[in-house]
Amino acid sequence: MQNLEWSKLPFGYVKTNYNVRCVWKNGKWGEIEVSDSEYINIHIASTALHYGQEAFEGMKAYRGKDGKVRLFRWEENCKRLKDSAAGIYMAQVDDKLFFDMVKKVVELNADFIPPYGTGASLYIRPLLYGSGAKVGVHPADEYTFLIFVTPVGPYFKEGFNPVKIAIIRDSDRAAPLGTGTMKVGGNYAASFRGLEKAHEAGYGSPMYLDCREKKYIDEIGAANFFAIKDNTYITPKSTSILPSITNKSLEEVAKYIGLKVERRPVDVAELPTFEEAGACGTAAVISPIGEIVDIDENKHYVYCPDGKPGKWSTKMYETLVGIQYGDIPDPFGWITILENI
Ligand code: PLP
Ligand code: COI
Repeated sequence: MQNLEWSKLPFGYVKTNYNVRCVWKNGKWGEIEVSDSEYINIHIASTALHYGQEAFEGMKAYRGKDGKVRLFRWEENCKRLKDSAAGIYMAQVDDKLFFDMVKKVVELNADFIPPYGTGASLYIRPLLYGSGAKVGVHPADEYTFLIFVTPVGPYFKEGFNPVKIAIIRDSDRAAPLGTGTMKVGGNYAASFRGLEKAHEAGYGSPMYLDCREKKYIDEIGAANFFAIKDNTYITPKSTSILPSITNKSLEEVAKYIGLKVERRPVDVAELPTFEEAGACGTAAVISPIGEIVDIDENKHYVYCPDGKPGKWSTKMYETLVGIQYGDIPDPFGWITILENI
């Protein structure tokens, strides 16, 4: 076990022992390689560098009270990586290669899996990119798939405490029929302007609206948005947001704890009517939203007047995190235990 201040870890990069890599060329994947280097050797004309032909994933391994290591819905991350790869014409990573590499990299870095009870987890970052050279605008004919891991704490410094969000209208992260539903790097570069604007105004994260009309809520930085109203879990339906696995899971959890569920366009004018609001994602888990500011229209919406997360957000958080760490039974079949780690 590494000697880290586990309960004080931010969401950041910590060097671990190994990463795993695999190269696709001549139409097939090669052998899985283990590397102790944090660097890659990349062709100066690779499509990843020039044309943004790359996609990534984000998932976590959790150490339970029973000492067991759990993965949460890894098949969904693999499926989304396939969708991202298809969307930008990259080679496909199949379930077996994906799982074998995840298992191997977690095993090899077992002493970086945070101990139970510290609130931290091992973040797993699969990355697929065009490593072949092209100068004309074409997909590569060689791809590299690698996975590194890093122990992390909460994405927002607030943890499971209310965050402040700013509505951004003067930049978009993804077009309605663009790459917003894929986890490709370009979306994140495109989100930096909004992120910086929110930070400069003293807010934790931007809220993006649909870019056609600026009427409907899209998502919150690197997380999906949800709200609670009249015993209903409400979350945006949009062609420019990432299909969050956490959000999809919270829809199930919400039904399980007695809420109705609506996935539909969510008009920004509904903001004052919500009883609770939150951001959700692998990194964000559930981050309750305490306040949303509409800078352009000089409006403020407050959701946690007493500074505490709302009752439904708390219940969903406890259920989701309870399943992930193995504290409560998993009625949904979402957990894969990695044996002998
Ligand atoms: N939206 C964006 C833009 C993201 O980057 C993420 C993180 O993966 C999410 C939403 C949440 O998705 P998930 O719950 O699958 O991690
Ligand atoms: C995640 O929630 O896994 C993310 O990828 C968010 C961000 C760090 C990109």
